[in-house]
Amino acid sequence: MNQFPLDIVILAAGKGTRMRSDLPKVLHPLAGRPLVSHVISAARAIGGKEICVVYGFGGDAVPRMLNDESLTFVLQAEQLGTGHAVQQALPALDANGVTLVLYGDVPLIRPDTLKPLIAAAQAGNLGLLTVMLHDPAGYGRIVRENGRVARIIEHKDATEIEREIREVNTGILAASTAKLHAWLGQLKSNNAQGEYYLTDIIAMAVADGVDVLTSHPADEWEVLGVNSKSQLAELERIHQRNISKALLDDGVTLIDPARIDVRGELVCGRDVVIDVGCIFEGRVEIGNGVSIGPYCVLKNARIASGTKIDAFSHLVESDIGEDVRIGPFSRTRPGTRLMRDAHVGNFVEIKNSVVAEGAKVNHLSYVGDAEVGAKTNIGAGTITCNYDGANKHKTIIGENAFIGSNTALVAPVTIGDGATIGAGSVITKDAPAGELTLARGKQLTITGWKRPVKTKKEN
Ligand code: UD1
Ligand code: CA
Repeated sequence: MNQFPLDIVILAAGKGTRMRSDLPKVLHPLAGRPLVSHVISAARAIGGKEICVVYGFGGDAVPRMLNDESLTFVLQAEQLGTGHAVQQALPALDANGVTLVLYGDVPLIRPDTLKPLIAAAQAGNLGLLTVMLHDPAGYGRIVRENGRVARIIEHKDATEIEREIREVNTGILAASTAKLHAWLGQLKSNNAQGEYYLTDIIAMAVADGVDVLTSHPADEWEVLGVNSKSQLAELERIHQRNISKALLDDGVTLIDPARIDVRGELVCGRDVVIDVGCIFEGRVEIGNGVSIGPYCVLKNARIASGTKIDAFSHLVESDIGEDVRIGPFSRTRPGTRLMRDAHVGNFVEIKNSVVAEGAKVNHLSYVGDAEVGAKTNIGAGTITCNYDGANKHKTIIGENAFIGSNTALVAPVTIGDGATIGAGSVITKDAPAGELTLARGKQLTITGWKRPVKTKKEN
């Protein structure tokens, strides 16, 4: 299809006044990623040779945040209109190619929708994406004569009769780059907004004998733009609904498809059940038969099959083995590895530690920079004291050990296989395998001791 090289221009210079924010509009997150990043993904899927982002408002915030050397950033110092914006990108584009124009604030556009536009441009025509709207107010209207597109008239410049037209310009178009060059050079700003309108090139194309071929998105939400926080919230819901739908189609059970948020990539095996209010960030992989209770947050985590995560658990950069039990109210921080059949219970925090097969940390504990051997039981209120105020140290606990409740393990320290630590101990030296070690004041009873009684005060 691409006999001419394809370049893609993404307009992202606008301030987005109605966002009422200091952050440039295109950097506001949708599903955890900047709006413009979604557009860049669509551009990549289409395979643009040059992907050129026109930025302006917010200084270099856009190139800085995207920080991607495969993109070309072009500064539009003054926002003089969409036509002026595309013109700024021209020097970066292949003069013998075709150009597709996308909008940084129209994030849900699908690559398939763009293909007919590119095909039109490749064939020497101008491809224009239009849509029929019940309420076309605010949009540029497509004016047709004898069924053929003649020009676009912006809402603010339109007559009452033209405002009746329901076919509107999405802004997205594709054309020969050389022709764009010629047309953009002729733009005037003598219109209601005093701007150089990209839309004025349509009439120029018609005058040049170039056919304007329209195509339409399969779904209206693909071309919805974000101008306000309420539109951003609306698009977030649409996007999340699409993700939920795809998960359901894959066989995932969502207790309520309206109450899940995926801000990244969620990959699920068979017979996965996800209860309400869960948030998935980054890449999360979930194995067969896993169930996730309500209000869990999982970020960059891998959960192997058969594992059950109970309500209100928070798992970040964690690798969870098969048939593990987690929660309710568990927290696993980066570098956590729980092996098969491990149990981690309520108010337990684990960081940078391996908990081996069948080991249990069931209540109110902190396990950091530690290795916990297979089948070891960590009693309630156990703390690995991994930090001396300057450096972090390791705690190594062997297999089949038993750590009594309310024990402080002062790292670096090693507890041998089969060792038992008495409750309430502060362990500062290695504890040998197979023995009982305790470190606490001896219990003492003073027989016959009497409580003091209140003396009568004389005044
Ligand atoms: C534009 C179209 C209109 C269409 C509508 C669809 C024009 C003149 N009008 O109108 O026909 O129905 O989009 O949403 O093209 N931008 C820049 N630099 C500028 C001006 C804009 O980068 O100087 C960017 C904005 O950041 C935004 C996009 O271009 O991403 C559209 O600009 P906007 O001012 O919102 O155009 P509309 O008035 O909505
Ligand atoms: Ca707009």
